[in-house]
Amino acid sequence: MDGSDLRAVREARGETQQAFAEWLNAQLGRRYDKGRISRWEGGTEKIPQPVAAFLSTPPKRAKTTATVVALSNQKGGVGKTSAAVNIAAALAGLGQRVLLVDADPQASATVHLGVSQADMSNAGRTTYHVMLKDQPVLSAAVPVNGGQFHLLPSTILLSAAETELIAEPMGTLVLRERLAAARPQYDYILVDCPPHLGMMTLNALAAADGVLIPVQTEMLALMGVPLLLDTISKVRRRGNPDLSIIGILPTMYTARHTQDRATLADLEERFGKALRVFSPVPRSTIFPQSVAAAVPTLEVAPDPAITGPFREVAQALLSADQEAAHVA
Ligand SMILES: Nc1ncnc2c1ncn2[C@@H]1O[C@H](COP(=O)(O)OP(=O)(O)O)[C@@H](O)[C@H]1O
Ligand SMILES: [Mg+2]
Repeated sequence: MDGSDLRAVREARGETQQAFAEWLNAQLGRRYDKGRISRWEGGTEKIPQPVAAFLSTPPKRAKTTATVVALSNQKGGVGKTSAAVNIAAALAGLGQRVLLVDADPQASATVHLGVSQADMSNAGRTTYHVMLKDQPVLSAAVPVNGGQFHLLPSTILLSAAETELIAEPMGTLVLRERLAAARPQYDYILVDCPPHLGMMTLNALAAADGVLIPVQTEMLALMGVPLLLDTISKVRRRGNPDLSIIGILPTMYTARHTQDRATLADLEERFGKALRVFSPVPRSTIFPQSVAAAVPTLEVAPDPAITGPFREVAQALLSADQEAAHVA
């Protein structure tokens, strides 16, 4: 792609250089200004590779079935739910049809998106009703974030699922079976897992094409990763051989803390050869604030320094699917 190609893309969108820069920034989590666009178009500055790659990628491919992604880590409070909500919003912002499944009885994603647990429970529109009461996913899912994506809500009722699923025939495959009918309607289905490796997490791993592992950049948090990797390899051996690991998303990172930098370096050294380690999500009070405001953090903090890592994961998911489509 050269400057005149880029100009053609901008003109086809009917945008000024300023508006085009803002659109690119929203898509890629960057901070380009209209001066940069002008220099790229004039050929006085090289177009950065991610911009060229993004603009040369054909706009969304019609997927025939959703890619299912589990966000899992048996440790609580590591940023799984924040990542799930924000990656869902980032994918939706890229024009993808997204369903977020709240698979945690604590219902943090449901709370974060401002959905009433009591109303959903009364209406039978929860993950529990889908998995154990034959409610179809498509009847249960609710539009959230101004209709941008869908949520399958959770309630505390879901805590009963751990024991009820044990009594079900092939109890770890229930979510996989229940999601099957909904997969053609979405491009991505994200599953926000609870903080333990029980029946719900096993259901999520059995239903998933890929796992994203949010890990807090804190020494003790790293220690749990090998157990999760071991669980993933058992799930592969016992029925879901194509389950991939999308990568590790370091979270709650404070760059000025020596300990956080050491832990991030350790994470990269121990797992970085085999797995992709995404850019760390910084620690910021904007996260709990966005939960209180019941909106994805992306909406209140478009600042790429904070939410860039979620867009990076969203782009990685899209690129992986596009590669798979080219191979297929
Ligand atoms: N990067 C961050 N910086 C500061 N607080 C965060 C960050 N990510 C999440 N939090 C807060 O930490 C708590 C736990 O995060 P959450 O995403 O719910 O973790 P999990 O789903 O792993 O239990 C929540 O109150 C959330 O708002
Ligand atoms: Mg959570």
